Amino acid sequence: MPPNPAFPATRMRRMRRDEFSRRLMREHRLSADDLIYPVFVLDGEGRTERVASMPGVERVSIDLLLGVAKQALELGVPALALFPVIDPAGKTPGAEEAWNPDGLVQRAVRALKQACPELGVITDVALDPYTSHGQDGLIDPTDPRGYVMNDETLEALARQALSHAHAGADVVAPSDMMDGRVARIRATLDAEGFIHTRILAYSAKYASSFYGPFRDAVGSAGNLGKGDKRTYQMDPANSDEAVREVALDVSEGADMFMVKPGMPYLDIVRRVKTELGVPTYAYQVSGEYAMLKAAAANGWLAERDCVLEALLAFKRAGADGILTYFALDAARWLREG
Ligand code: PBG
Repeated sequence: MPPNPAFPATRMRRMRRDEFSRRLMREHRLSADDLIYPVFVLDGEGRTERVASMPGVERVSIDLLLGVAKQALELGVPALALFPVIDPAGKTPGAEEAWNPDGLVQRAVRALKQACPELGVITDVALDPYTSHGQDGLIDPTDPRGYVMNDETLEALARQALSHAHAGADVVAPSDMMDGRVARIRATLDAEGFIHTRILAYSAKYASSFYGPFRDAVGSAGNLGKGDKRTYQMDPANSDEAVREVALDVSEGADMFMVKPGMPYLDIVRRVKTELGVPTYAYQVSGEYAMLKAAAANGWLAERDCVLEALLAFKRAGADGILTYFALDAARWLREG
């Protein structure tokens, strides 16, 4: 080891010695303002269902969703992101239920905006909860490999996004990874006068195995079967491509940009933030949640400390906000100090 010429004059530990100087040195902070809470919504009344692979997460009917929304407001969490659990009977190859004006998401949005108008409501734009095959888009019936068609899917996504806007959604969030969907959705919304409806683009969304528990939660895992989403979601090996994807969504008029999954992709969050300087969000996905919960349940990790550390790490990597199933817990822990 070469000697360190700065030592002993420079001692990095000096500023770490006391809490006051540690506080002064702290570069990043996590607050409830940074959090978005994803919620799974069910049909019916007074209904909750546990998600086996996501202990602590419950699917809730719209009446109970309003209670969740009030908690989020009370804890200072700015927005909810809705994910519907669609009855298998409502799933079709063409996903027509996705733009039903009286569909589950559309009713949930109306109820939320009426009960808690100040709370931001984000809706997912993708067809997978509604397709009998579990893909995010429409399948080419003439292709033996079942290619998910891009341009035909755009039409469906635009209808879905528009129906969310009509219901009162503040932010529509295309998570499907079709090419050109942001431009198409923006044009459709603008043509109908929804110039204030924001678009949160899942721009750098990877074909990840960490989504497993989510697919259980919305009940699309069985429909998807052995299928995968690698013809539209990104290859986990790629990084330059993520920057390009985000840049395209910037040019198409998106307002917010998502990197997903979260913790294994902090390098992507940092690159997007540094190279493009856009509002950047990270999704701490279901598999990340499941890992932390499983280790905590076994007494292998301290849940509160590890969750807050993981969420702070997103901020340090450059995220402006984080979608996390821990949002309400984290907001509560932050309040307790
Ligand atoms: C689908 C969608 C997925 C998630 C959010 N929207 C899964 C997928 O692409 O199959 C995953 C979220 C999570 O794992 O928490 N449009």
